[in-house]
Amino acid sequence: MNIFFKVIIFSLLTMGIYTLFATNYIPPMNSAPVPAEETIDLAQMTIQQFIALGDKIFHGKGTCTLCHNPVVKRAPLLDGVAGRIGERLKDTRYKGGAKDLAGYIEESMRKPSAYVVAGYGVTGSNDTVSPMPVISEGAIGLNDVEIKAVIAYLQNLGGAEVTVEIPKGPPMAEGKDSAQAATLPAKTGAEIVKKFGCGLCHKIAGEQGAIGPDLTKIGAKKNADYLRRAVFDPNADIAPGFPPGMMPQDFKDKMTAGELQVIVDYLAKSK
Ligand code: HEC
Ligand code: HEC
Repeated sequence: MNIFFKVIIFSLLTMGIYTLFATNYIPPMNSAPVPAEETIDLAQMTIQQFIALGDKIFHGKGTCTLCHNPVVKRAPLLDGVAGRIGERLKDTRYKGGAKDLAGYIEESMRKPSAYVVAGYGVTGSNDTVSPMPVISEGAIGLNDVEIKAVIAYLQNLGGAEVTVEIPKGPPMAEGKDSAQAATLPAKTGAEIVKKFGCGLCHKIAGEQGAIGPDLTKIGAKKNADYLRRAVFDPNADIAPGFPPGMMPQDFKDKMTAGELQVIVDYLAKSK
């Protein structure tokens, strides 16, 4: 056979095999191994990279988008926070000590009740108590560098000048997202509450969330069928006094059947 044709046939065969392989044997994304912990070298970082770090924390470990997202109206959208800063600091209800945008954003994370945006306070508190969790402690627990990165991200998002400086310090390990860290199925009710952030919104398992109903005695009022539906199909029934759509709609994609059973049993026994 002509050498030219041999080469062509060989190439087609290789391509064919490769295509077969590529379409059939690439593992699905969700079974990818947990990425190794990365280190962040602050000394080598540009401000753009620092903003990108803040973006990642805002959408991941910080859990900010659980409440600050455009689909449901459970918290003010933050792309406009830069434009609102003047009126916030002048408001007679403002009790904090911030002097500028960066200070205001930082205070919102560390002391959410220093100022409560009208209409968003804990029910019955007349907008004096914020349902936003303290970000520097507890379940979220961002460190000082992570908080600065989020401020840089929000300044940039609002089109304001980025005034935060990248903190100096030795390379630090990038904290894993709770979503990444928690790839193993949770085994107890309290572990599930932690893994899925139920306690950011609910009073349950020692957590003090105030966005949704208190679940510490839910088992006295509701049976297992209701509770199962409440977690997997939240808009099927809406707890009185709460607007629909606030409870995350994607637990059915994120939880295993075993985890659902465990949390339903746990809630049913909370009396
Ligand atoms: C459990 C829900 C929840 C989570 C999670 C949450 N927030 Fe909030 N946040 C709120 C609510 C509700 C308000 C409005 C009440 C108030 O002013 O405290 C608010 C207010 C704010 C404000 C003030 C907005 C304004 O217009 O003045 C900022 C800034 C803010 N949050 C930043 C964040 C950041 C950054 C994160 C993540 C690190 C975060 N929040 C996570 C619920 C949440
Ligand atoms: C971002 C806030 C948020 C998170 C996170 C959240 N919930 Fe909710 N949840 C709500 C709100 C608001 C309601 C009330 C509105 C409704 O019924 O949909 C609610 C309702 C419920 C109810 C029904 C209560 C009743 O009295 O009828 C159950 C049960 C529940 N949530 C369980 C959970 C569990 C379990 C998790 C974690 C796996 C969780 N929630 C995470 C906000 C949240």
